Amino acid sequence: MKRNIFQKQDDSEITVPVENTPLPETKVNIDASTDQLPVGHSTDIINLVNITQVYSDHTPPNVVFKDFNLDIKDIKDSGQFITIMGKSGCGKSTLLRYISGLQVPTSGEVYIYGKKRTDKDRIPMVFQQYTSFEWKTVLQNVALPLILKGVPKDEANDKAMDMIKIVGLAGHENKWAKYPILSGGQLQRVAIARNLVVNPQILLMDEPFGALDTITRKQIQVFLRSIFENAKIDPTVVFVTHSESEAVFLSSDIYILDSGPATIRNHFKIDLPENRTDSVRYSTDFSDYVNKLGSLLEDLKKE
Ligand SMILES: Nc1ncnc2c1ncn2[C@@H]1O[C@H](COP(=O)(O)OP(=O)(O)O)[C@@H](O)[C@H]1O
Ligand SMILES: [Mg+2]
Repeated sequence: MKRNIFQKQDDSEITVPVENTPLPETKVNIDASTDQLPVGHSTDIINLVNITQVYSDHTPPNVVFKDFNLDIKDIKDSGQFITIMGKSGCGKSTLLRYISGLQVPTSGEVYIYGKKRTDKDRIPMVFQQYTSFEWKTVLQNVALPLILKGVPKDEANDKAMDMIKIVGLAGHENKWAKYPILSGGQLQRVAIARNLVVNPQILLMDEPFGALDTITRKQIQVFLRSIFENAKIDPTVVFVTHSESEAVFLSSDIYILDSGPATIRNHFKIDLPENRTDSVRYSTDFSDYVNKLGSLLEDLKKE
């Protein structure tokens, strides 16, 4: 009998799916003087607690988040891909900016490993636009975050070179990190290497492959999964994409956001093999996930 991939497969804490189920109410008072997480939230890698975002430049004001809560659990000694999807303008980039520290919500708190995030711990983010320094070489770009942390130059270069090899750019290290000297896919690899070189616990990626052609995009997806398998790097990646197949291929978890104000409409796990080579794309489970995800996203559009 063909199993239903959206049924709960094990005793994991997440029910699959959590369609149309309102999240439990967490009415909490946050004491600004303490790092303590409010009652109702256990310490996870990322906790967004009672987030409200109001933009008053609209009439009526645009309420993007109202008492929004999201708890992302760390999986010990294992990387994970958390993908956030939803209509344009629902608040996906804003969520990543909260986690990275680039934006503070109108009210509410962000906790990283149970501590309120501070301006000091900026979390790295890869964007769709190429964000390398064009007047620096690939090696200088990748070594930069280490140099800024005070790592001596030789050591920084050695570590950067290791990371350049992992992302498949060995031989390109002395080229300018600039289009068209490097292709779009290569420049995104530079950005990924620069962000991973400091071995972050969290990596944020906002539609990072949106500007790439289909073939390059598929290759870079395989490569991104393989880094985590081969390099023993185990960050939690929070990823935003509009591509259903990209989301299924990369993710361990997918969240679908509703808008106005944003709520978590669906959350489910992707139970595909850890080792995701191109052949995974041709499995029945893969296409079932993509079709189901497509119909959940269609439901959003109809409303
Ligand atoms: N600086 C800003 N001023 C006013 N409105 C903003 C600002 N930044 C974002 N918004 C609004 O917040 C909402 C969410 O934006 P965003 O997080 O970029 O959406 P997404 O990434 O899901 O497409 C949108 O309605 C957008 O217009
Ligand atoms: Mg966005």
